[in-house]
Formats: sequence, structure tokens, C-alpha cells
Amino acid sequence: MALRIAKRVGAVGASPTLAITAKAKALKAAGKDVIGFGAGEPDFDTPEPVKEAAIEALRAGFTKYTPAGGIPELKEEIVKKLSRENDLEYSADEVVVTTGAKHALYVATMALVDDGDEVIIPAPYWVTYPEQARLAGGVPVIVRTREEDGFRLRVEDVEAVLTERSRMLVLNSPANPTGAVLERGDLEALAELACRKDLIVLSDEIYEPMIYDGRKHISIATFPGMRERTIVVNGASKGFSMTGWRIGWAAGPKEVIKAMSAQLSHSTSNATSFSQKGAVAAYRLPKDVVAGMVAEFEKRRREIVRLLNEIPGVSCLMPGGAFYVFPNVAGTYGEHRGRRIDSSLALTEYLLEEVNVAVVHGEAFGTPGYVRLSYATSMEKIQEGVKRISEALAG
Ligand SMILES: Cc1ncc(COP(=O)(O)O)c(C=O)c1O
Repeated sequence: MALRIAKRVGAVGASPTLAITAKAKALKAAGKDVIGFGAGEPDFDTPEPVKEAAIEALRAGFTKYTPAGGIPELKEEIVKKLSRENDLEYSADEVVVTTGAKHALYVATMALVDDGDEVIIPAPYWVTYPEQARLAGGVPVIVRTREEDGFRLRVEDVEAVLTERSRMLVLNSPANPTGAVLERGDLEALAELACRKDLIVLSDEIYEPMIYDGRKHISIATFPGMRERTIVVNGASKGFSMTGWRIGWAAGPKEVIKAMSAQLSHSTSNATSFSQKGAVAAYRLPKDVVAGMVAEFEKRRREIVRLLNEIPGVSCLMPGGAFYVFPNVAGTYGEHRGRRIDSSLALTEYLLEEVNVAVVHGEAFGTPGYVRLSYATSMEKIQEGVKRISEALAG
């Protein structure tokens, strides 16, 4: 007997980025020399002081439940970070700590989206946004961005899809999968639209530290009228190389934070106690620790873009942030080693099977014709991996 899965969840597929990582891992386990460009996590180790703080917490017996919305010490660090780095003033009761940024996005969406509410999501999008909107009973409305705009969202494209049911706009700058960074003018126009049309903005700023060429991260919450309609989501995962620690957070209007904390109290109870202590240490790290990791990403970014652009049929923009490139691969379609490649999905499968290189197909991000490569891997692997791609496409 097949058990009936509830409609709300039945329509949700497993994350395709995790699926490709799993397939690559299986090939690795079978002894293949796989080069993985699939993973969305920094390859650096978590900084030592962060580990020390968590170990110390464990030794001191800090192993019990914490307040659902996070320990006061961590909330204080987050309040200080927002003030210091983002020009945003929040109080501790306007901040909530979650089990990763993903869960902050989830409980924020659950708190704000009712059945039938439309959630505007720019494409290429991070795979989770449309699924979370659906889980909340909402309707994802996809707005395309264009390669010729560097994948930056145009305000008129958002305005064109607005209806009576438009409720929330999801922003992600720097973006996964394109690395696009919204500029001050883009944000200003989007903020003006959000105020005029009474939209809530869910601003996913998890890639904030990875920003290049002298750009400065700007939160949309800093624009007039936006603080009261923005939920800022961020966390320790990417910037401090702490993906497995599962520490994210959100800052926003008190009543929304309260509604988010209430959900936490009935789902996760709290983010892991000693991980929270580790995150406190992370926000106290000297600036050069993160800067060192970002400088390394910066070098790899230039190299991977240069190498990809040497492959006939591939064109790759220089991304402004995050640790992904999103090259256009439509020009490579055709016959390769006796196989017909006519989509980015077919290309992804071909590369994994033929030369053991894992990339993620653009279809997963709502944008066929492209693939995503994460350069959170060593320079050597970048060079070897792109060489293999080039060889696979030459035949
Ligand atoms: C755009 C974006 N937001 C949020 C997350 C999730 O972060 P966390 O690991 O803290 O849940 C990711 C992770 O891949 C991401 O790419």
C-alpha cells in the first residue's frame, strides 16, 4: 500500500543541487576521480577560534535547550554586526537565530505568505525559494533577469507581474547561482516599488562577505520605508565556512520575528546550543580571517572565468559576488563523442558521466541554457575540471 503524501509536500521535489552532489559522491565512492563544481559550500575549514568556542561550550556543559529564538549573547553579536557592517539598527527582540539561513527563510515565508499569495522570485533563482513559497500555500511568480544586464533584476520587470495578490519579493544579492550583485540604483528603485505597492521584501544576504572589485554590500532594509517591510536573512554558513553548524538568523519587524520564533519553538526548538556559541566567536573574529578566504575566492573567480571563456561555445560573465559562475553553454550544443547534447541538463549528465566533472544544470535554477559551477574548490581542481570540460566539448 502506498501511503498518501499530503498535497502541500507531495509537489515538492528534493533539491536538485543536492541530487547532483549525491551522484558525484556515489561516483567518487566507486573510485572515480570526480571534480565537483556542484557544492554550495566553502572548501575552507571553519576558523579555529570558532571551533575552540564550541568545544569550550561542550566542556562547560552548554548542551541543553536554549531560548527558541537564540541565546542573548549571539543576538547581541548580530545586532552589533548589523549596526557595524550594514548601517542597520535593530534591538535583540527584532532578531531571531535559526537552524541555518534556509530555515530562517522558511519560517519567514510561513509567517507572511497566506494561501494564494504571490511570491515574486527573480530567475535564475536558488532552488529553494519557489518550493518554500509553495509549502506556505503561496504561488511563485518568476521574473526573468537577463544575461545582458549581468542578471541584475530590473524594477520594470517586477512591476509588470504585480497583481492584487502580490505579497512578497525575494531578493538575493549577491546571488546564487549567478553571483549578480544589485547596485544602489537597482535597490533604490526596488525599494520605491515595494513601498508604493505594499510588498514585503525577503532579503537573503547570506553571500554578503563574498563581494568583489571594491563593491560594497547594501541591504535594501536601509532605504526609506523599507525597515518595516523587510526581513533581512543572513547567517554564519558561507562567510565563516560553517555550513554544517546550521546557524542562520533574521532581522525584521518585531511581530514577524515573534511569529518566526513561535514556529521555531514548535519545530526545531532552538539552533544547536554549542553551535550558537561558535557563532558568537565567529562574529568576533578579526576581519582578516574572512578577508583571507574572500581574497582566495577572488583569485579563483578570475581564473575560472578566464578558462571557461576559452572554451568555444561557452560565454561566462564575471560575477560580482558569491562563489559561483553561471556560464551560457547553449553554444556547445551538438554531437559530442557520439552523444546528442541539446540541453544544459543533457550537458550536465554528459560531463559527469564522460569526464567525471559535476556541474549543476541551469534548469534547476529555472534557466536552461546555462550551468552553475561553484569555485569553492582548489585552484588545481578548477584548472583540471575546466580542462576536462573543454576536452569533452572538443570531441
Ligand atoms: C541563496 C542561499 N540562501 C540560503 C542558503 C542556505 O544557507 P544555510 O546553509 O545557512 O541554511 C543557501 C545555501 O546554499 C543559498 O545559496
